[in-house]
This record gives sequence, structure tokens and C-alpha cells, in this order.
Amino acid sequence: MVRLTILATAIGLASFNVYADSQVADSVAPEATNEVVSKKAVEAEEFIVTAAHPLAVEAGYDVLKSGGSAADALVVVQTVLGLVEPQSSGLGGGGFLVYWDAKEKKLTSFDGRETAPLAARPELFQDENGKPLKFFDAVVGGRSVGTPGTVKLLETMHQKYGDKPWSELMQPGIVLANKGFEVSPRMAASIANDQERLARYPDTKEYFFTQDGEPLPEGHLLVNKAYAQTLEALAKGGSEPFYSGQIAKDIVAKVTSVEDNPGVLAMEDFATYKILERDVVCSAYHQYDVCGMGPPSSGALTVGQILGISSHFDLAKLGADNPTSWQIIGDASRLAFADRGRYMADTDFVPMPEGLLDSEYLKQRASLIEEGKALTEVSAGEPPWSIKMAMADDESIELPSTTHIVIVDGEGNIISMTSTIENGFGSRVMSNGFLLNNELTDFSFAAHKDGYPIANRVEPGKRPRSSMAPTIVMKEGEPYMAVGSPGGSRIIGYVTKTLIAHIDWGMPIQQAIEMPNMLNRFGAYDIEAGTDAEKFKAPLEEMGFKVNVRDLNSGLHGVVFSDGKMIGGADSRREGIVLGD
Ligand code: GLY
Repeated sequence: MVRLTILATAIGLASFNVYADSQVADSVAPEATNEVVSKKAVEAEEFIVTAAHPLAVEAGYDVLKSGGSAADALVVVQTVLGLVEPQSSGLGGGGFLVYWDAKEKKLTSFDGRETAPLAARPELFQDENGKPLKFFDAVVGGRSVGTPGTVKLLETMHQKYGDKPWSELMQPGIVLANKGFEVSPRMAASIANDQERLARYPDTKEYFFTQDGEPLPEGHLLVNKAYAQTLEALAKGGSEPFYSGQIAKDIVAKVTSVEDNPGVLAMEDFATYKILERDVVCSAYHQYDVCGMGPPSSGALTVGQILGISSHFDLAKLGADNPTSWQIIGDASRLAFADRGRYMADTDFVPMPEGLLDSEYLKQRASLIEEGKALTEVSAGEPPWSIKMAMADDESIELPSTTHIVIVDGEGNIISMTSTIENGFGSRVMSNGFLLNNELTDFSFAAHKDGYPIANRVEPGKRPRSSMAPTIVMKEGEPYMAVGSPGGSRIIGYVTKTLIAHIDWGMPIQQAIEMPNMLNRFGAYDIEAGTDAEKFKAPLEEMGFKVNVRDLNSGLHGVVFSDGKMIGGADSRREGIVLGD
């Protein structure tokens, strides 16, 4: 069955919905769904890979088939994705990665998030009167570009866990960039949807438009010699050319010379950039431990809070078809997002309560929820913490873009990585054949409110708070499931829905991914348009929710480990596939 959905029209910030106790809600979808095509789960016994574009998955499959490790396959999948899905992730961006080391039987995570330049100040996204800039005035140009982390993350993973020669792993991307690839329907739709911003800078315009000035159509053979040259340089010099050589110089020159909106990125930012290995953040849910990325991502903490609060209700018994289940999940999510907005940020820079996942605290938060009636008021709680500090609620804006990769190799090592350049097409500034991120707009534009500091304010060297939630679920000390999604701050709802659908409602992975998206972040309930879930609109409104029926453009990819098999699923809302043996 093919279900066509309507392309969202790019609109200005003025038409965002704003709720009393919320951040600005994201209603622009620069990476709108263009087509929904039903997919089937894929079973494998040895290795498996799933990502958002068939060419990237095929390249990763070839590496795994020839005995490569998950880290080897990651290098290939990401370098190809950066070429064929350039609107979502790439060398100019960053990401978070959760890793299961099968030999050490250890779960760990890697932070490849972009950093704010050392010259950045809390007023970065404010005008001369201290007023926050309009969202796209901040995004488009050099100002929003943080120090990219993806290349260093790939190199770190390869140095720690790779088997094949690094230079060999650059070859699939080089070959494809030189010979060209066909612009996919999704990429063509994304370009058409963002024409005005993509036409603002000559290099970007030249790449994404035909010689006649038309946005590249589906099927157009796109060659990217500059990208091939970049990968050649990485093949020869590792990350060095990117962080202290010519590529870094080119990026700095580009960012600082954007005439209408320059940035402050400098060589020093590249020279001091580091990948940080961090402990995973885990929360108990039924007989599972749901583990993911801690700060600067809010992903694992917020998913963990929603699950922890919801676990005080019998979702399994209530069932997926019951509006009360969704009321509970929605209100749990609102409570979690209130804490996220107040407390979650880069903890290398700001203190955060230690007790955000404390079971007594979550029980107390759950006691606020009344079955059958939406909460009338939601605010951040008072989780236990040792250094108590008054803070104001966040004012950052996150839009749906990004991509998720899951890879399992023949040794059982697992990668669950969410990768991004932030907004669809990032800052729209291109250098060396790839787009540069606009990750810094994940910071709060305001630095303080009512005299209190905002945790996620801009600071030099700080990493902007993320919603990315690359997840590995453990059962009795062994991996049970790996999952994640793109989607800005909706990532949290997409991942949580998939976990509850599988764990509480017994849906196989593909069905759990396909289940219509329903989520609530700041008060209004989002329901996926054109799906069976529209039937929940009236009952949720009766319970007191404001409901938006809209495109909910997840890109979930997941693998479940069961009875010695791996079952992989890919989201029908995007172009991804699963391959394995
Ligand atoms: N820029 C998307 C995220 O970090 O959540």
C-alpha cells in the first residue's frame, strides 16, 4: 500500500504555536515526508545494518559481508549517507553513538556533538537590543555553525573498534561521488521545499539546482567532485586535514566570510575539538534496562522519565487502542519535557539534578496524573540534587531532520547512532562538498529569564542540548533491542512510542515502528495525519488536550535480538532499508 502525504510548506516563525509553559513548538518540517511505502522486517543471523538510504545500507552490508566490524561499516555508511542524504547528516555535522562491545560485554557511548566556538557568547542569537533572533535568521549563514564532530567520531570508532584499513573505507563514498548518484524522491522533495534558503549562497545553489535554475529533480545524476576530494584527503591523512589542515581552513574561511550572517568559528575550535566517551544513561522499564545518551543530549533522560512515570500505570492492560493509554503517555511526556526544559543541558558547563531518574521522584511525578483527564498545568518538578540552583525554562527551538543508523557485526558488536546537521540542509552553507551544520541553534536563544539563568544558554566551547536518543535496550545483561530516530525534539516521542509498542503491547519491531506516531511535548497532542490514530482526536480533546493532526515524520530504524536471530525494521516514512545475512 502506498500512502501519499502532503508536503509541509515552509513557514515563518510567526506561525509557530506557542503554549504558555512551553518552548516554541516546531511546526516547520524542512524534511517533510514525501511518500510512505510499507516495508517488511528483515531477519538475519550473522550481521545486519539499517539506515536511511539504500546506497548507504548496501555499502555497509558489503563491509560486514567481507568480515568488517560495525565500526568499519559505520565509516562507510556515514560517508555515503553524507553524500546521498545530505539534508540530514554528514561530515559538517555531529552525532551521538551508543556502542555494545561484545567482547568486553560493555555498553558505552560517544559524544561527537558540535561545540560552540570559543569566541561565541550567550548573546550569539540575540539582536542589538537583546531580543532573540527569528529562527531562520539565526539558522541560515555562518552564525549557527558549530565545530563539526562527525569526522573525529568516525576516526575514534575506527581506531578503537575498526579492522579494515581506514583508507579502504573511504572508497565507496569516493567512487559514488565521482560517478554520481540519482537524487532520491525524498532528497528532491526536500530541495523543492527549501528552494529559497538553498539559493541564498552561490556554492549551495550551484549544487542543489540544475543549470536552468530548477531544484534538482528526482532521478537527476548528481556528481560531487569536491566531496570525493574531501574523502581522498581523509583517506590519506585521517582526520588531520579536517581538524588542522586545509579542510578546517576552508570551513573557517567560509563561515567567517558569509556576508549576511557570518560566524565566529576559528582554527582553535578545530584544534581543541574532542570526542568524549561517556557513561550510558539507563532506566529500568519492566524487565529491561533502556540505555542511551546522557547530557548534552536530553534523549535518554527524557525517554527514561516518560517510561518511568508511565510504568506506574498498566499500559499493557489498557492497550494501544485505548485513549487513556495515550493520555498517560502524553501527560508523562509533558512532565518529562518540563524537566528537560528546566534542567537538561551540557553538564560539563552547568549543574544538573542527579535525581531526574530517581524512582521515588518519578513515582511522585506519576501521582500527578489522573486517568481519563489531561493535566491542566505542567511545570518542572523538584528532583533530588546536591547543588541546588534556581534555573529558568529553556527557549530553544528544534526542527525535525537528522538520521539514525543501527549496525550489528558478525562478532555481535552493536552501533546505535543518531547523526545530524540539525535543520534540513543545516546552515545552508557548503564547504568542500558538504553542508555545514546549524547545531548552535539547539541552544536557547535567550540566556536568562526573570533573573534566572537558562541551563542551555550559549557558552564558549559548550555543546548544545540535543534530543537525539540512540538507544540500546538490555535484558538480563545482554542486548535486546537497538533503536533510534531523527525528528528534532519529537525524536523522544518516536523512540518512546516504539519501545512501548514493542515492550508493553507486544508488537514486532516493524509494526512498532509503523504504528502511527502520537506524542506530546509542550501541551498540545500531535497525532499523525492520514492514519488510524486520527480516531483519538475527539477522545483526547474531551480529556482536555489541544490536538494537532499533522505530518509526523519519524525515521525509526531498529533491530530486536530474539532466539539467536536479529529482526530489523526500517521506517516506511523515509527511504531507509534493512540488509543482513
Ligand atoms: N539537532 C537535533 C538534536 O540534536 O536533537
